[in-house]
This record gives sequence, C-alpha cells and structure tokens, in this order.
Amino acid sequence: MKILVVGSGGREHALVWALSRSGDHSLICAPGNPGIAEIAKLFPVKVSDIDGLVNLAAHEKVDLVIVGPEVPLVAGLADELRRKGIPCFGPGAAGARLEGSKWFAKEIMESAGVPTACGKVFSDLASAREYIGEDACKYVIKADGLAAGKGVFLPDDSVEACGILEELFAGKFGESGVQVVVEERLLGREVSILAICSGEECVILPPSRDHKRLGDADTGPNTGGMGAVCPPPGTDNCSWEHARTRIILPVLSELASRGIDFRGVLYAGLMITDDGPKVLEFNVRFGDPETQAVLPLVLDDLGEIFLSAATGGPLPEHLTVEDGFCSCAVMASGGYPGTYEKGFPITGLDKIEDAVVFHAGTAIENGRLVTGGGRVLSVACIGDTLEGSLDRTYRELDKIDFKGKFYRKDIGRTV
Ligand code: AMP
Ligand code: GLY
Repeated sequence: MKILVVGSGGREHALVWALSRSGDHSLICAPGNPGIAEIAKLFPVKVSDIDGLVNLAAHEKVDLVIVGPEVPLVAGLADELRRKGIPCFGPGAAGARLEGSKWFAKEIMESAGVPTACGKVFSDLASAREYIGEDACKYVIKADGLAAGKGVFLPDDSVEACGILEELFAGKFGESGVQVVVEERLLGREVSILAICSGEECVILPPSRDHKRLGDADTGPNTGGMGAVCPPPGTDNCSWEHARTRIILPVLSELASRGIDFRGVLYAGLMITDDGPKVLEFNVRFGDPETQAVLPLVLDDLGEIFLSAATGGPLPEHLTVEDGFCSCAVMASGGYPGTYEKGFPITGLDKIEDAVVFHAGTAIENGRLVTGGGRVLSVACIGDTLEGSLDRTYRELDKIDFKGKFYRKDIGRTV
C-alpha cells in the first residue's frame, strides 16, 4: 500500500517507523524531517497547505493518507481528500471540532453522559471573573479554540486568574480567546487513551502517560510533552475496557447521531479521580510524545487497520501488544518552550544501540545534522519492567549531545 503521512514531528516519525516495520508499504511524508527521510520519501508541502496536500496525495496516487497534527484536520483536509475519493485516517472538520472547541467537546460529553469536569462557557470578562470569585484554585481556565497546547491555565489565586482572563478576552489566542471555558479542577493521575475509530466502532491502543510540565517533579511551564510511558504506572486496577465502553463509544455514537462519521484517532486525556476516570480533553489525532511510547509495543500491521478505519470498515477487537513497557524522553533545546537558539550540531546518534530515536526539531545544514526546533529528538526504549525501560532510555539518551540540550530526568518516575 502507498501511504502519505502528514506532519513533521516525533509523532509522525513514530508513525512512519511503525508502518515501515511491516515492510509492505511504500511510505511518503509531507513535509517530514531528517529522521523520517531515512525511511520515507519527503515532499516539501506544509501541513497548513490543504490544496497542496490533496494535490500531492492525488498525484502520488496514494491508497491512504494519515494526518498527524490537528490544524489540517480542523481546516477540513480529511473532507477534501474524501471528496476526491482518497481514504484518510483522520476525522473531517465536523468531528475535529471535538479538539477545535472545548465547549463543543463538553456539549458532546454532556449529551453522551460521559464523565468530565463541570464547566461553563463565557464570552465576557466580567461574568467569568464573577464566576471564579475568590476560589481561583478550584478552577481551570481554558481558551475555547485551538491554542497549540498553550491555552490551559491553573491559577493559584484570583489575581492570577483575573490576569489570565484579561489576556484571553483581549485576544491572546486570536479567535480562541473569544470564548473561555472555566471548569472544575480535578485531582488524580492522568492517563492518555488513544482509540482507533471507524464510525461507531473502536479499538484502543495501550494507555500511556505524558509529562507535560517542563521541569522535574512537574514544575515549570506546560510544554508539548517532555516524555511518556506506556503503560502508565499506578493504574494497575483501572479497567481500560471501561474507558472504551463508557467514554469512547458513547462519544462516537453521539457524533453519529449528529451525522458525524468519525474515522481516525480519538484521544481522551483522562484524570483518574476518586470517583473514576473523567475526561480532561479530547484530541482528534495521536498524542505527541505518547505515540513514540505506544507504537513500539504494538505488533500489528497498523497500515491495514488505519485503512479499514479510514474507509469505515471493521476493526479488530484487540491489538497485538508486546508485554512490557516503553518509555520515551524528549530532548529539547535550552530555552524551550520560550525562545531558544537553533543550528547546533547533534552528535552521538551513531552510538545508539538499544533505542529508537525519533526526530522532531532537527535539520540538515551543510551536510550535518543540527538542531532546528524546540523539541529536537525523542528517545524510546522497551523493557520488561518500567525501570528497565527507563534505565535504558536514559543510558542511550546520554550518548546524544548538542549545545544546550535539556531533558527531564524523572519521566515515568513522578505521577
Ligand atoms: P488539556 O490541554 O486540556 O489536556 O490541559 C493540559 C493540562 O492541564 C492537562 O494535562 C492537565 O494536567 C491540566 N488540566 C486540564 N483540565 C484540567 C482539570 N479540569 N483539572 C485539573 N487539571 C486539568
Ligand atoms: N501530549 C499531549 C498532546 O499530544 O496533546
């Protein structure tokens, strides 16, 4: 099968790598990165160029398009591909609203009876401020629309909450700031569930946990994710079948009742509270870096499964998953998620023996591999135990060097 993967991060490298393991697919990627270039042919089309991507898929006569990031999905890439008869693993714009609007996601959950934090939507500053009052630390403030992972705030006090609300209503995220969701703050352990969906059917990938804060012991600003482990520790008595039947399937059926045929990944960010799992957010794509920790454990030919989902076909009841654990640590440029310098040579990749290294912010300059973004690489290792996989990940990661490299040292070790 000929497959186009859209995107250029560690998640897309992991997808292309997992598809390449079956050996039966011809893989192309747009725009890709230097790591992906080793296993797929790259085409320099941006993820925001919907017409360019549709033309590429048609010109290359691909059998399937897999979309990594949310932006082209919200912009309707999957709809355009389907209009041309090209199967796409990724929902159309109507389904992508689950990620594109936090309030739409809340409405769907309410109609479907899915447990989530109680929330209210506001379109003016004064009402939001009054609602929060002096109890800011009981609430979470969220920009309603896409904000590249930067639109969620957990204020410590009402002064901080007011500042956040003022910025959001002043248009910090453009249109995203026009509506603001204020919701109850939940306590517990976080788990990411990724479900492969074909209309009203789904099969879930092994659960994982992402570490979003920049610093060890969950300190510092939120980032796109500094590492992930699969399966997550401390959740031995959680039933993932429960997540499938009580969260994913009801949402798919609610969407279907509104005429939305969801084909792609539904990602539920869960908080495992004392009252059971509750949904923090939905994404309509694979998580990054969760994908880098999940896919190394999955043994099926995902190409066939994604194609079946993309065409509304049947899904297997279960996936074939290796016993053991996989952990992944992200190596970032010093200064990320704020400003950072680029162009530093990356060394040591030739010494890696035991890990898969997924590229994200890398580039080739004068024939050398250099840093080209904030999230540079992620290093993933499997082990029989979580500790074993973590030891191996950090041992291999230590072999890689670039100026200003930064990574969390407690992935999988803090909850
Ligand atoms: P989101 O992008 O909605 O997943 O939010 C980013 C992070 O903010 C989550 O991974 C949680 O750590 C935190 N968060 C979001 N919503 C809540 C909530 N209702 N209660 C507690 N923490 C939350
Ligand atoms: N790791 C969080 C996300 O992909 O949204």
